[in-house]
Amino acid sequence: MMKRLSVAIDGPAGAGKSTVARQVAKRLGLTYVDTGAMYRAITWKALRHRLDLTDESGVIHLARHTDLRLSTDQKGVGVWVDGEDVTEAIRTPEVTSNVSVIAGQGMVREVLVEKQREMAEQGGVVMDGRDIGTHVLPDADVKVFLTASIDERAQRRYQELMRRGYPVDLDRLKEEISQRDEKDKSREHSPLRPAKDAIHVDTTGLTIEEVIQAILDLCRTKVGGG
Ligand code: DC
Repeated sequence: MMKRLSVAIDGPAGAGKSTVARQVAKRLGLTYVDTGAMYRAITWKALRHRLDLTDESGVIHLARHTDLRLSTDQKGVGVWVDGEDVTEAIRTPEVTSNVSVIAGQGMVREVLVEKQREMAEQGGVVMDGRDIGTHVLPDADVKVFLTASIDERAQRRYQELMRRGYPVDLDRLKEEISQRDEKDKSREHSPLRPAKDAIHVDTTGLTIEEVIQAILDLCRTKVGGG
């Protein structure tokens, strides 16, 4: 019954989108698409090829000639670039600090948006990103805009990076997150903003399970015709 449902989850970095989206997809039997991972994958490849990241035509060429695959299994989400497993490599601070340059390029976005729409056409999806409800899937059945206070988001990223073995300074992280928010919100192409028909969910102080349940309720209401 939920097979063809499309769910768009947007919001700033660290609001908990990917954890929540993956679980919602799993529980509804839908495909999870992490679009941030796609921007990260292109950034990773451009860095590896020592490309000038501001050279938009070079980056477009690279994006068009990349075999980019996402997979989800019990262990989580896997990302492959031209057959190479880059799941961990796309989460390094180096990729994180360069990804907004790539994500700010309109033509590169078009290449990735096309891939995202193809993925959604194959059946029900839960897709997370910044422009899913506004641009990639404007007709999504359920649109959620997830937010959380900057302190809470910095704290979550801090825990995640420490767990992955990247020691960071919490205050610096907070600064970086607000700079990245600002860049995502003020960029020319598909800036981060809620769709008019998105439901806002502030995850500050909520557990992951509470957020998952809130979104599952929205999906059930939709399927039930409410
Ligand atoms: O969600 P994330 O941190 O993995 O996203 C990585 C970067 O990609 C972030 O700077 C925002 C950008 N992004 C985007 O511009 N559009 C999307 N649909 C997803 C991510």
